[in-house]
Amino acid sequence: MLTILFSARPDSWDQYDDPLNDALSDAGIGPFRVVTQAAADEVDYIVYAPDSGLTDFSVFPRLKAVLSLWAGVERIVGNPTITVPLARMVDAGLREGMQEWVTGHVLRHHLGMDAHILGTPGIWTKQVPPLARDRTVAILGLGELGAASAEALVHLGFRVSGWSRRPKALPGMQCHHGAEGLDTCLREAEIVVLLLPDTPATQNILNSRTLDLLPTGAVIINPGRGPLIDDDALLAALDSDRVGHATLDVFRVEPLPTDHPYWAHPKVTVTPHIASETRPATASKVVAENIRRKEAGEPMLNLVDRGVGY
Ligand SMILES: NC(=O)c1ccc[n+]([C@@H]2O[C@H](COP(=O)([O-])OP(=O)(O)OC[C@H]3O[C@@H](n4cnc5c(N)ncnc54)[C@H](OP(=O)(O)O)[C@@H]3O)[C@@H](O)[C@H]2O)c1
Repeated sequence: MLTILFSARPDSWDQYDDPLNDALSDAGIGPFRVVTQAAADEVDYIVYAPDSGLTDFSVFPRLKAVLSLWAGVERIVGNPTITVPLARMVDAGLREGMQEWVTGHVLRHHLGMDAHILGTPGIWTKQVPPLARDRTVAILGLGELGAASAEALVHLGFRVSGWSRRPKALPGMQCHHGAEGLDTCLREAEIVVLLLPDTPATQNILNSRTLDLLPTGAVIINPGRGPLIDDDALLAALDSDRVGHATLDVFRVEPLPTDHPYWAHPKVTVTPHIASETRPATASKVVAENIRRKEAGEPMLNLVDRGVGY
């Protein structure tokens, strides 16, 4: 009998109980039980989210793998007590949600919707936006979520460029990599979307130097992670009109403290880390498939490369 410990926010268990049990049954892994508490020496797999509070994995002598429910693993990737494979979440629901959020916020800025939503009644000012084909959007991070968001924007006709660590070729867009590639990407970007993981190499990737490369009035959209941005540099760039607006979903400290300058800044939109959520129905199938693979001796999916931190 396999024991699978569900170690996430306690109130999320209700959402996962049925889909996870169904997906594990469908995967045909033999007898199993999914529990929210177990004796440490009985646990074979841990389905994990950082808000569970679990940090010491050394107490589970039988542990075979840790399966993260989150795509971002910065809070667990350096945990020295994890000596078994660590898989991150790649989920169709997460991908679709991010495509929708990114597309919505890009279109808001592209079309200049604020002028009408927040405009003065009675004032008829016509300002026609360019077509998407004449607007360049840069996506930093071309992984599962960055590539999916880029695909949606290409589909709408935007001129899309992107940046990743390794060279990439994606249909309908310009792909860059390396330090020079970042600068090239930013110099052309009227809208920048951050979908990089939080690693030592990506922290403060948007800083005073790189913000200075952007065309004046560019818009920053960050559904990636808070530490990707040097907050003081961004606030200075907003105040000097170098950057036109920042739509931020993620922050160094969450919830964003009520006295943080982002809340009151007229050129900042704060959303409360809701760009995209792991969806229990689809994510449960990913978890079950990975457990099936491990049990069958097949390579697991979505394994984290601890050397690079994502
Ligand atoms: N706000 C939300 O609700 C929410 C929800 C889910 C995820 N997220 C965030 O989104 C992030 C991206 O998720 P994902 O599933 O798309 O991750 P992923 O598949 O691992 O993709 C990461 C991308 O970033 C690139 N990258 C990493 N380090 C880099 C570096 N030093 N220089 C240049 N490019 C680098 C990778 O390059 P390679 O292709 O060369 O590896 C890859 O293209 C997550 O880490 C998480 O922080 C946010």
